[in-house]
Amino acid sequence: MRTNKPKLTIVGAGPGDVELITLKAIKALESADVVLYDALVNEDLLQYAKQAQIIFVGKRFGCHAYSQDQINDLIVSMAKRYGHVVRLKGGDPFVFGRGSEEIEFAQKFDLETAIVPGISSALGVPASNGISLTQRRVAESFWVITGTTSDHKLSKDVALASQSSATVVILMGMNKLDEIISIYQNNRTDDLPVAIIQNGTKNTQKKAIGTISSISEMVKEQQLSSPAIIIIGEVVRNAPQLTAYIKEEYSEEEFVFQNLDLIG
Ligand SMILES: C[S@@+](CC[C@H](N)C(=O)[O-])C[C@H]1O[C@@H](n2cnc3c(N)ncnc32)[C@H](O)[C@@H]1O
Repeated sequence: MRTNKPKLTIVGAGPGDVELITLKAIKALESADVVLYDALVNEDLLQYAKQAQIIFVGKRFGCHAYSQDQINDLIVSMAKRYGHVVRLKGGDPFVFGRGSEEIEFAQKFDLETAIVPGISSALGVPASNGISLTQRRVAESFWVITGTTSDHKLSKDVALASQSSATVVILMGMNKLDEIISIYQNNRTDDLPVAIIQNGTKNTQKKAIGTISSISEMVKEQQLSSPAIIIIGEVVRNAPQLTAYIKEEYSEEEFVFQNLDLIG
């Protein structure tokens, strides 16, 4: 039975660590009648939605539980039937999250709409790993690019960005890694630093830090896969945690070698 008026709140859940969600997001979950959540959302956050029906609408083992059209219809029908629908999405809902499409659809059916931003993985994952996307005298800007466009291609922006000194953050790019590396080999140097971080900010996080020439092998060795972000640029070299990471992973002799190799 509906107690609240039909409303959609699109909420960013942050990159994975449950503590990286906003107070406003928690309040929205507490007042939800229905929560529709995606695969990248940390399910521990659902504890805040005590009174809500919880529905998983994401993608698991490569299969979509619902198509985007079905999700849009579900938002409207659930809001009309029960009241407040919270659409909980990983990271920030407006960064490769289709949040704006869902808002637009809901408004066509006269739902009240609201948006609660979240910490995008594009920003939160590098920062929590000590990688500063901008740095004085090193990187004056950063690009956040999709590795997989709606027609399943690598965005052309990767080639454009690789010609600049900007830091480049690529989401959904793991299955295009070889293509990305070859673009950088053509446009830049082999020793440009690269970090790949899977499940960033979660306790299952894994990462590899190398260079354009070494990263492919490291990804294979460490069996890194999606969801992961790829960070390319000189700022990776300056990450304070880089030294600590190398120290942890290698003996002292190898550490000196690796460090020289990377710092060139
Ligand atoms: C459909 S996009 C959604 C991005 C999300 N809206 C955001 O702002 O983070 C999914 C991609 O985001 C990246 N991603 C999301 N969460 C991540 C995490 N915790 N660690 C690494 N990459 C993540 C991966 O590249 C993943 O394939």
